[in-house]
Amino acid sequence: MAKPRVLVTRAIPDAGLDLVRAFCEADVWTDELPPERGVLLDRVKGVDGLLALLTDRIDPAVMDAAGPGLRVISNYAVGYDNVDVAEATRRGIPVGNTPGVLTDATADFAFTLLMAAARRVVEADRYTRAGRWRTWGPKLLLGQEISGTTLGIVGFGRIGSCMAHRASGFDMRVLYHNPECEESTEAEALGAECVDFDTLLREADFVSVHTPLTPATHHLFNEAAFARMKPTAILINTARGPIVDPGALYRALESGTIAGAALDVTEPEPLPPESPLLGLDNIIVAPHIASATGTARGKMARMAAENLIAGLRRERLPNCVNPEVYTRLPGTRD
Ligand code: DGY
Repeated sequence: MAKPRVLVTRAIPDAGLDLVRAFCEADVWTDELPPERGVLLDRVKGVDGLLALLTDRIDPAVMDAAGPGLRVISNYAVGYDNVDVAEATRRGIPVGNTPGVLTDATADFAFTLLMAAARRVVEADRYTRAGRWRTWGPKLLLGQEISGTTLGIVGFGRIGSCMAHRASGFDMRVLYHNPECEESTEAEALGAECVDFDTLLREADFVSVHTPLTPATHHLFNEAAFARMKPTAILINTARGPIVDPGALYRALESGTIAGAALDVTEPEPLPPESPLLGLDNIIVAPHIASATGTARGKMARMAAENLIAGLRRERLPNCVNPEVYTRLPGTRD
């Protein structure tokens, strides 16, 4: 029997790619950069399954180009704001993601950014390399204490909760706010306090963003939000770039409304080298690498492959973001 045809929009780690290749006739896009829109629309024609990355916009045009045979969209990420899930559901297409396996890696990196920004690590490295280190100085590159300060977590899901675990090792007080206003029982167990957004902004020394990008969280961090933060506060974003308004962030950092920021995600991505943000010393920008450990990326690849294969077999995806689709797919086996 002919193998199902799939498009894989980048060379994911072998732990997943080998599985895909064993089960499917796979067209794997191997360039470093994502396929351009026209190329994506062309290569996706007639496929049974699509394994996509967060850099691919999977909208009705892509689904149309794939055609009626498209049985599954597997996203190689936990976030899926790049996929028009409502449209996929309407068409009866299950969408998979990769939750859980990148939680520790992402929280580790968020805490790394917090510490690096507080203690000006990147700036210090630039200072040394520029040949400016002439002596030990009592006021040289003074940073901020971390122990005993207050961490505000916006979005207390899996990664937010891991961040709270890490903060407890630094005797930090932890506040959290869920934009969906749900209290978390796990947070209570960790001693984290549920507060409204204003209180979190007003009291936190570090604000770390872990909420998904939705219409409600788009530019949640804007001029008004920065104005309510402490002038000594540091913002950390490892969630999605558009949760932070880049123009408002620039003005807040430049004017001293807040003290610093450390971003793993930006709007847009990649952040162009001429972005005014990159002219500031009080910001660290990493190229969306919070989940970039070999372990996490390997597990994500396997999970994405398993979602893809389950969808091709018309089985329930192990990790499906639109389970309501199954009420519309009479032939699906559990
Ligand atoms: C995700 O999975 O959503 C991250 O942003 C990339 O690992």
